[in-house]
Amino acid sequence: MLVAASGLAREVLASLRSSGAHQVIGFLDDDPALAGTIIDGVRVLGGIPDVVDHPNARVLICAGKGAVREVIASRLGLLGVRSERYATVIDRTAIVSVGTTVGAGSVLLSNVVLTAGVRVGSHVVLMPNVTLTHDDELADFATLTAGVSLGGSVHVGKAAYLGMNSSVREGRTVGAGATVGMGAAVVTDVPDGQTWVGVPARPIVAHHTEELVKELGRIV
Ligand SMILES: CC(C)(COP(=O)(O)OP(=O)(O)OC[C@H]1O[C@@H](n2cnc3c(N)ncnc32)[C@H](O)[C@@H]1OP(=O)(O)O)[C@@H](O)C(=O)NCCC(=O)NCCS
Repeated sequence: MLVAASGLAREVLASLRSSGAHQVIGFLDDDPALAGTIIDGVRVLGGIPDVVDHPNARVLICAGKGAVREVIASRLGLLGVRSERYATVIDRTAIVSVGTTVGAGSVLLSNVVLTAGVRVGSHVVLMPNVTLTHDDELADFATLTAGVSLGGSVHVGKAAYLGMNSSVREGRTVGAGATVGMGAAVVTDVPDGQTWVGVPARPIVAHHTEELVKELGRIV
């Protein structure tokens, strides 16, 4: 079951159809307008609390933002969903080297490359063409959107979000809950919770956090 009938969920569905790794039995989404509708040939079975009606199904949280995935994981935990219930989805075109670890509930979409000794936490999302190089470490709920590249030994904090085609110099840290804008080149550490953009990346006062707070308010 894919939790959150999002664009990411549709991408995961397409990947799973291509690999045949899992059969998707339905979406769960709290939006009452979606209940019973069919998305890309798969039915929305109900809201998050309806997970209890499918005790044997594996679960994958597909909200695009890590902070939202974290709240949903807490709710699912209260409904009895333990980490072993979470599916891990690795697209058949992804290259995952020996010695790399990928946590439960994480998603690697097409052409993701993990070169050597990479550690990917739980509920992490790596969108198409992400490249992680030696000894990179991604904490739980991190999101790396299409085309992100990390040099070696980069640390990405919990629920950090890296925008499309951004890159991070080797050995740097992107803090927990931080956001890196599209196309940015990160050359110094990004502190927790800040938004940095540009080449070289610098902090800005962000507005998107207001949208995130609203989104979180809808699902808590
Ligand atoms: C960085 C980001 C989060 C900022 O969003 P926001 O908080 O809504 O900020 P705003 O759009 O109000 O922009 C604030 C300022 O930063 C600038 N800015 C925004 N994104 C920028 C970027 N990627 N690079 C350079 N400058 C950027 C804006 O031009 C604006 O400048 P101004 O104040 O001089 O007018 C957003 O632009 C971004 O890059 N998001 C990632 C999108 C993405 O990769 N999506 C993938 C979907 S799968």
